[in-house]
Amino acid sequence: MTSGAERDRAIELGRWRAHAPGRVNLIGDHTDYMGGPVLPMAVQLGTTIVATRGEDRIELTSADEDDVALVPLPVTDASAARPPWARYVAGVAQVLGSTVGLRGRVGTTLPIGAGLSSSAALEVATALALGDDGAPRDVARRCQHAEQLATGVPCGVMDQFASCAGRAGHAMLLDCDTLDVRHVRVPQDARVWVIHSGAPRSLAGSAYARRRAECERATRTVGPLPTAEPARIEAIVDPVERARARHVHSESARVRRAADALEHGDLELVGRYMRESHRSLREDFEVSTPRLDELVDHLCGIDGVLGARLTGAGFGGCVVALARPGVELEGWHVVPSDGARVERVD
Ligand code: GLA
Repeated sequence: MTSGAERDRAIELGRWRAHAPGRVNLIGDHTDYMGGPVLPMAVQLGTTIVATRGEDRIELTSADEDDVALVPLPVTDASAARPPWARYVAGVAQVLGSTVGLRGRVGTTLPIGAGLSSSAALEVATALALGDDGAPRDVARRCQHAEQLATGVPCGVMDQFASCAGRAGHAMLLDCDTLDVRHVRVPQDARVWVIHSGAPRSLAGSAYARRRAECERATRTVGPLPTAEPARIEAIVDPVERARARHVHSESARVRRAADALEHGDLELVGRYMRESHRSLREDFEVSTPRLDELVDHLCGIDGVLGARLTGAGFGGCVVALARPGVELEGWHVVPSDGARVERVD
Protein backbone atom coordinates (compact mmCIF):
# COMPACT_ATOMS: atom_id res chain seq x y z
CA MET A 1 0.00 0.00 0.00
CA THR A 2 1.24 3.48 -0.81
CA SER A 3 1.75 5.83 2.13
CA GLY A 4 -0.57 8.76 2.67
CA ALA A 5 2.14 11.20 1.61
CA GLU A 6 2.83 9.28 -1.62
CA ARG A 7 -0.86 9.14 -2.43
CA ASP A 8 -1.24 12.84 -1.75
CA ARG A 9 1.61 13.61 -4.16
CA ALA A 10 -0.04 11.45 -6.81
CA ILE A 11 -3.62 12.69 -6.52
CA GLU A 12 -5.02 14.89 -9.18
CA LEU A 13 -6.46 18.11 -7.86
CA GLY A 14 -9.69 19.53 -9.32
CA ARG A 15 -13.35 18.92 -8.82
CA TRP A 16 -14.63 15.37 -8.36
CA ARG A 17 -17.88 13.50 -7.94
CA ALA A 18 -17.71 10.29 -5.91
CA HIS A 19 -20.74 8.06 -5.51
CA ALA A 20 -21.03 5.05 -3.19
CA PRO A 21 -24.12 2.87 -2.82
CA GLY A 22 -25.69 1.51 0.35
CA ARG A 23 -26.24 -2.21 0.70
CA VAL A 24 -28.72 -4.75 1.92
CA ASN A 25 -27.66 -8.16 3.13
CA LEU A 26 -29.87 -10.95 1.79
CA ILE A 27 -28.44 -13.51 4.22
CA GLY A 28 -25.36 -14.04 6.40
CA ASP A 29 -25.32 -11.82 9.46
CA HIS A 30 -22.69 -11.86 12.18
CA THR A 31 -20.54 -14.12 10.03
CA ASP A 32 -18.24 -11.55 8.36
CA TYR A 33 -16.01 -10.80 11.36
CA MET A 34 -15.61 -14.53 11.96
CA GLY A 35 -14.36 -15.18 8.42
CA GLY A 36 -17.64 -16.64 7.18
CA PRO A 37 -19.58 -15.91 3.98
CA VAL A 38 -22.21 -13.21 3.39
CA LEU A 39 -24.61 -12.49 0.52
CA PRO A 40 -25.19 -8.73 0.28
CA MET A 41 -25.99 -6.56 -2.72
CA ALA A 42 -25.27 -2.89 -3.38
CA VAL A 43 -28.49 -0.94 -3.91
CA GLN A 44 -29.61 1.96 -6.09
CA LEU A 45 -29.68 4.35 -3.12
CA GLY A 46 -26.40 5.93 -2.18
CA THR A 47 -24.25 8.87 -1.16
CA THR A 48 -22.59 11.35 -3.48
CA ILE A 49 -19.83 13.82 -2.68
CA VAL A 50 -19.06 16.63 -5.10
CA ALA A 51 -15.92 18.39 -3.91
CA THR A 52 -12.75 20.18 -4.93
CA ARG A 53 -9.48 18.70 -3.73
CA GLY A 54 -6.91 20.95 -2.09
CA GLU A 55 -5.87 22.72 1.13
CA ASP A 56 -5.13 21.02 4.43
CA ARG A 57 -8.62 20.36 5.69
CA ILE A 58 -11.91 18.75 4.74
CA GLU A 59 -14.97 20.96 4.70
CA LEU A 60 -18.20 19.24 3.72
CA THR A 61 -21.78 20.41 3.99
CA SER A 62 -24.73 18.06 3.82
CA ALA A 63 -28.37 18.59 2.95
CA ASP A 64 -29.28 16.22 5.80
CA GLU A 65 -27.12 17.71 8.53
CA ASP A 66 -27.23 21.13 10.17
CA ASP A 67 -23.55 21.28 11.00
CA VAL A 68 -20.63 21.39 8.59
CA ALA A 69 -18.02 18.65 8.87
CA LEU A 70 -14.78 20.53 9.30
CA VAL A 71 -11.80 18.22 9.66
CA PRO A 72 -8.24 19.64 9.88
CA LEU A 73 -5.60 17.35 8.35
CA PRO A 74 -3.80 15.18 9.19
CA VAL A 75 -6.25 13.36 11.48
CA THR A 76 -4.89 11.56 14.54
CA ASP A 77 -8.13 10.71 16.41
CA ALA A 78 -11.18 10.37 14.17
CA SER A 79 -13.46 9.49 17.08
CA ALA A 80 -13.03 13.02 18.44
CA ALA A 81 -14.32 14.73 15.25
CA ARG A 82 -17.55 16.73 15.57
CA PRO A 83 -20.39 16.83 14.56
CA PRO A 84 -20.89 13.05 14.85
CA TRP A 85 -21.21 12.47 11.09
CA ALA A 86 -17.75 14.03 10.60
CA ARG A 87 -16.21 11.05 12.44
CA TYR A 88 -16.71 8.81 9.38
CA VAL A 89 -15.09 11.37 7.10
CA ALA A 90 -12.24 11.86 9.59
CA GLY A 91 -11.82 8.09 9.97
CA VAL A 92 -11.15 7.74 6.26
CA ALA A 93 -8.73 10.67 6.24
CA GLN A 94 -6.92 9.13 9.23
CA VAL A 95 -6.55 5.71 7.58
CA LEU A 96 -5.41 7.26 4.29
CA GLY A 97 -3.02 9.63 6.08
CA SER A 98 -4.47 12.43 3.93
CA THR A 99 -2.89 15.86 4.01
CA VAL A 100 -4.70 17.18 0.91
CA GLY A 101 -8.32 18.02 1.76
CA LEU A 102 -11.69 18.56 0.14
CA ARG A 103 -14.26 21.30 0.02
CA GLY A 104 -17.75 20.46 -1.17
CA ARG A 105 -21.10 18.91 -0.53
CA VAL A 106 -22.53 15.53 0.45
CA GLY A 107 -25.94 14.37 -0.69
CA THR A 108 -27.60 11.04 -0.04
CA THR A 109 -30.69 9.15 -1.11
CA LEU A 110 -30.14 6.65 1.72
CA PRO A 111 -32.18 6.79 4.89
CA ILE A 112 -29.64 7.60 7.64
CA GLY A 113 -29.02 4.99 10.31
CA ALA A 114 -31.76 2.70 8.97
CA GLY A 115 -29.65 -0.37 8.26
CA LEU A 116 -28.80 0.30 4.61
CA SER A 117 -25.18 1.16 5.45
CA SER A 118 -25.33 4.91 5.11
CA SER A 119 -22.09 5.16 7.12
CA ALA A 120 -20.23 2.71 4.85
CA ALA A 121 -21.47 4.66 1.80
CA LEU A 122 -20.18 7.91 3.31
CA GLU A 123 -16.80 6.33 4.06
CA VAL A 124 -16.39 4.86 0.59
CA ALA A 125 -17.47 8.08 -1.14
CA THR A 126 -15.03 10.01 1.06
CA ALA A 127 -12.17 7.63 0.24
CA LEU A 128 -12.74 8.01 -3.50
CA ALA A 129 -13.16 11.78 -3.23
CA LEU A 130 -9.85 11.95 -1.33
CA GLY A 131 -8.12 10.10 -4.18
CA ASP A 132 -7.99 6.50 -2.97
CA ASP A 133 -7.73 4.68 -6.30
CA GLY A 134 -6.93 1.25 -4.87
CA ALA A 135 -8.63 -2.03 -5.80
CA PRO A 136 -12.19 -2.27 -4.43
CA ARG A 137 -11.17 -4.85 -1.82
CA ASP A 138 -8.39 -2.59 -0.52
CA VAL A 139 -10.60 0.50 -0.43
CA ALA A 140 -13.18 -1.62 1.44
CA ARG A 141 -10.64 -2.74 4.03
CA ARG A 142 -9.43 0.80 4.58
CA CYS A 143 -13.02 2.02 5.02
CA GLN A 144 -13.76 -0.83 7.46
CA HIS A 145 -10.76 0.34 9.49
CA ALA A 146 -12.07 3.92 9.25
CA GLU A 147 -15.45 2.85 10.66
CA GLN A 148 -13.73 1.08 13.55
CA LEU A 149 -11.67 4.19 14.34
CA ALA A 150 -14.69 6.47 14.04
CA THR A 151 -17.12 4.47 16.16
CA GLY A 152 -15.06 2.03 18.22
CA VAL A 153 -17.32 -0.80 16.96
CA PRO A 154 -15.24 -3.81 15.78
CA CYS A 155 -17.29 -4.22 12.57
CA GLY A 156 -16.58 -6.66 9.76
CA VAL A 157 -15.88 -5.79 6.12
CA MET A 158 -19.24 -6.66 4.55
CA ASP A 159 -20.85 -3.21 4.30
CA GLN A 160 -17.85 -1.42 2.84
CA PHE A 161 -17.08 -4.32 0.50
CA ALA A 162 -20.62 -4.42 -0.87
CA SER A 163 -20.50 -0.66 -1.47
CA CYS A 164 -17.14 -0.91 -3.28
CA ALA A 165 -17.66 -4.05 -5.34
CA GLY A 166 -21.38 -4.31 -6.19
CA ARG A 167 -22.47 -5.37 -9.65
CA ALA A 168 -25.80 -4.35 -11.21
CA GLY A 169 -28.28 -7.22 -11.32
CA HIS A 170 -26.24 -9.33 -8.90
CA ALA A 171 -25.82 -10.14 -5.25
CA MET A 172 -22.30 -11.06 -4.12
CA LEU A 173 -21.25 -14.17 -2.29
CA LEU A 174 -18.30 -12.80 -0.35
CA ASP A 175 -15.98 -15.10 1.57
CA CYS A 176 -14.86 -12.82 4.39
CA ASP A 177 -11.82 -14.99 5.09
CA THR A 178 -10.25 -14.84 1.62
CA LEU A 179 -12.25 -11.85 0.29
CA ASP A 180 -13.05 -13.89 -2.82
CA VAL A 181 -16.29 -12.85 -4.51
CA ARG A 182 -18.76 -14.76 -6.64
CA HIS A 183 -21.34 -12.48 -8.25
CA VAL A 184 -24.71 -14.24 -8.25
CA ARG A 185 -27.40 -13.07 -10.64
CA VAL A 186 -30.63 -12.04 -8.93
CA PRO A 187 -33.51 -13.52 -10.98
CA GLN A 188 -35.82 -11.11 -12.81
CA ASP A 189 -38.83 -12.30 -10.82
CA ALA A 190 -37.25 -11.54 -7.43
CA ARG A 191 -38.16 -8.34 -5.61
CA VAL A 192 -36.11 -7.28 -2.60
CA TRP A 193 -37.70 -5.01 0.00
CA VAL A 194 -36.24 -3.36 3.07
CA ILE A 195 -38.70 -2.51 5.82
CA HIS A 196 -37.79 -0.43 8.84
CA SER A 197 -38.91 -1.77 12.20
CA GLY A 198 -39.36 1.76 13.51
CA ALA A 199 -36.78 1.22 16.24
CA PRO A 200 -33.31 2.76 16.02
CA ARG A 201 -30.41 0.39 16.53
CA SER A 202 -29.85 1.29 20.15
CA LEU A 203 -27.04 -0.37 22.09
CA ALA A 204 -25.83 -1.86 18.83
CA GLY A 205 -22.22 -0.85 19.49
CA SER A 206 -21.59 -2.46 22.84
CA ALA A 207 -23.78 -5.54 22.26
CA TYR A 208 -22.11 -6.04 18.87
CA ALA A 209 -18.66 -6.01 20.47
CA ARG A 210 -19.86 -8.45 23.14
CA ARG A 211 -21.20 -10.88 20.53
CA ARG A 212 -17.93 -10.72 18.65
CA ALA A 213 -15.96 -11.40 21.85
CA GLU A 214 -18.18 -14.42 22.63
CA CYS A 215 -17.52 -15.82 19.15
CA GLU A 216 -13.80 -15.26 19.56
CA ARG A 217 -13.81 -17.18 22.84
CA ALA A 218 -15.63 -20.07 21.16
CA THR A 219 -13.04 -20.01 18.36
CA ARG A 220 -10.27 -20.57 20.90
CA THR A 221 -11.97 -23.86 21.82
CA VAL A 222 -13.10 -25.22 18.44
CA GLY A 223 -11.18 -23.28 15.75
CA PRO A 224 -12.76 -21.16 12.98
CA LEU A 225 -16.53 -21.31 13.52
CA PRO A 226 -17.71 -21.43 9.87
CA THR A 227 -15.86 -24.73 9.34
CA ALA A 228 -15.82 -26.18 12.89
CA GLU A 229 -17.10 -29.71 13.49
CA PRO A 230 -20.75 -29.44 14.64
CA ALA A 231 -20.09 -32.08 17.32
CA ARG A 232 -17.28 -29.97 18.76
CA ILE A 233 -19.53 -26.90 18.77
CA GLU A 234 -22.21 -28.83 20.68
CA ALA A 235 -19.55 -29.85 23.20
CA ILE A 236 -18.66 -26.22 24.09
CA VAL A 237 -19.27 -25.99 27.83
CA ASP A 238 -20.46 -22.39 28.07
CA PRO A 239 -24.06 -22.29 26.79
CA VAL A 240 -23.79 -18.73 25.47
CA GLU A 241 -20.59 -19.39 23.54
CA ARG A 242 -22.11 -22.64 22.25
CA ALA A 243 -25.19 -20.87 20.92
CA ARG A 244 -23.16 -18.08 19.29
CA ALA A 245 -20.90 -20.63 17.62
CA ARG A 246 -23.91 -22.63 16.43
CA HIS A 247 -25.32 -19.55 14.75
CA VAL A 248 -22.10 -18.63 12.93
CA HIS A 249 -21.68 -22.21 11.74
CA SER A 250 -25.26 -22.78 10.59
CA GLU A 251 -25.56 -19.31 9.07
CA SER A 252 -22.38 -19.84 7.03
CA ALA A 253 -23.84 -23.04 5.58
CA ARG A 254 -27.16 -21.31 4.84
CA VAL A 255 -25.42 -18.47 2.99
CA ARG A 256 -23.69 -20.88 0.59
CA ARG A 257 -26.89 -22.84 0.03
CA ALA A 258 -28.91 -19.67 -0.48
CA ALA A 259 -26.37 -18.41 -3.06
CA ASP A 260 -26.72 -21.69 -4.99
CA ALA A 261 -30.52 -21.55 -4.76
CA LEU A 262 -30.51 -17.94 -6.00
CA GLU A 263 -28.27 -18.91 -8.89
CA HIS A 264 -30.71 -21.68 -9.83
CA GLY A 265 -33.68 -19.32 -9.56
CA ASP A 266 -35.18 -21.28 -6.65
CA LEU A 267 -36.59 -18.30 -4.78
CA GLU A 268 -38.82 -20.43 -2.54
CA LEU A 269 -35.71 -22.09 -1.18
CA VAL A 270 -33.89 -18.77 -0.72
CA GLY A 271 -36.94 -17.57 1.23
CA ARG A 272 -36.80 -20.63 3.45
CA TYR A 273 -33.15 -20.04 4.27
CA MET A 274 -33.97 -16.41 5.10
CA ARG A 275 -36.63 -17.50 7.59
CA GLU A 276 -34.22 -20.00 9.14
CA SER A 277 -31.58 -17.29 9.36
CA HIS A 278 -33.94 -15.07 11.31
CA ARG A 279 -34.72 -17.88 13.73
CA SER A 280 -31.03 -18.49 14.31
CA LEU A 281 -30.33 -14.77 14.83
CA ARG A 282 -33.20 -14.66 17.30
CA GLU A 283 -32.55 -17.85 19.26
CA ASP A 284 -28.84 -18.57 19.03
CA PHE A 285 -27.38 -15.12 18.45
CA GLU A 286 -30.02 -13.13 20.36
CA VAL A 287 -29.83 -9.99 18.26
CA SER A 288 -33.51 -9.73 17.37
CA THR A 289 -36.21 -7.75 19.15
CA PRO A 290 -39.93 -8.45 19.65
CA ARG A 291 -40.70 -5.76 17.06
CA LEU A 292 -38.40 -7.36 14.46
CA ASP A 293 -39.88 -10.81 15.17
CA GLU A 294 -43.40 -9.47 14.75
CA LEU A 295 -42.50 -7.76 11.51
CA VAL A 296 -40.86 -10.90 10.09
CA ASP A 297 -43.90 -13.01 11.06
CA HIS A 298 -46.27 -10.46 9.56
CA LEU A 299 -44.31 -10.26 6.28
CA CYS A 300 -43.97 -14.03 5.96
CA GLY A 301 -47.76 -14.28 6.20
CA ILE A 302 -48.30 -12.04 3.15
CA ASP A 303 -49.14 -13.81 -0.08
CA GLY A 304 -46.17 -13.57 -2.45
CA VAL A 305 -43.58 -12.93 0.27
CA LEU A 306 -41.12 -15.83 0.15
CA GLY A 307 -39.03 -15.02 3.19
CA ALA A 308 -37.96 -12.27 5.56
CA ARG A 309 -35.30 -11.78 8.20
CA LEU A 310 -33.61 -9.05 10.19
CA THR A 311 -30.70 -7.66 8.21
CA GLY A 312 -27.46 -6.13 9.46
CA ALA A 313 -26.46 -6.03 13.10
CA GLY A 314 -29.97 -6.38 14.57
CA PHE A 315 -31.09 -4.85 17.92
CA GLY A 316 -33.66 -2.84 15.92
CA GLY A 317 -33.11 -1.52 12.42
CA CYS A 318 -34.43 -3.23 9.30
CA VAL A 319 -35.90 -6.40 7.88
CA VAL A 320 -35.17 -7.64 4.35
CA ALA A 321 -37.95 -9.44 2.51
CA LEU A 322 -37.88 -11.45 -0.72
CA ALA A 323 -41.11 -11.21 -2.68
CA ARG A 324 -42.72 -11.96 -6.01
CA PRO A 325 -43.41 -9.11 -8.46
CA GLY A 326 -46.71 -7.37 -7.76
CA VAL A 327 -46.33 -7.47 -3.98
CA GLU A 328 -46.24 -3.97 -2.52
CA LEU A 329 -44.72 -3.54 0.92
CA GLU A 330 -44.26 -0.46 3.04
CA GLY A 331 -40.58 0.10 2.68
CA TRP A 332 -37.81 0.54 0.12
CA HIS A 333 -37.86 -1.61 -3.00
CA VAL A 334 -34.13 -2.05 -3.65
CA VAL A 335 -32.43 -3.27 -6.80
CA PRO A 336 -28.93 -4.74 -7.10
CA SER A 337 -26.62 -2.02 -8.36
CA ASP A 338 -23.04 -1.25 -9.31
CA GLY A 339 -20.43 -0.41 -6.71
CA ALA A 340 -18.77 2.93 -6.01
CA ARG A 341 -17.27 5.15 -8.70
CA VAL A 342 -15.53 8.49 -8.99
CA GLU A 343 -15.26 10.91 -11.91
CA ARG A 344 -13.76 14.26 -12.66
CA VAL A 345 -16.28 17.11 -13.04
CA ASP A 346 -15.52 20.59 -14.27
C1 GLA B 1 -22.97 -4.49 10.77
C2 GLA B 1 -21.46 -4.55 10.52
C3 GLA B 1 -21.11 -5.65 9.52
C4 GLA B 1 -21.74 -6.98 9.93
C5 GLA B 1 -23.21 -6.81 10.28
C6 GLA B 1 -23.81 -8.07 10.84
O1 GLA B 1 -23.65 -4.10 9.61
O2 GLA B 1 -20.99 -3.31 10.02
O3 GLA B 1 -19.72 -5.77 9.38
O4 GLA B 1 -21.03 -7.58 10.97
O5 GLA B 1 -23.44 -5.76 11.20
O6 GLA B 1 -23.79 -9.07 9.88
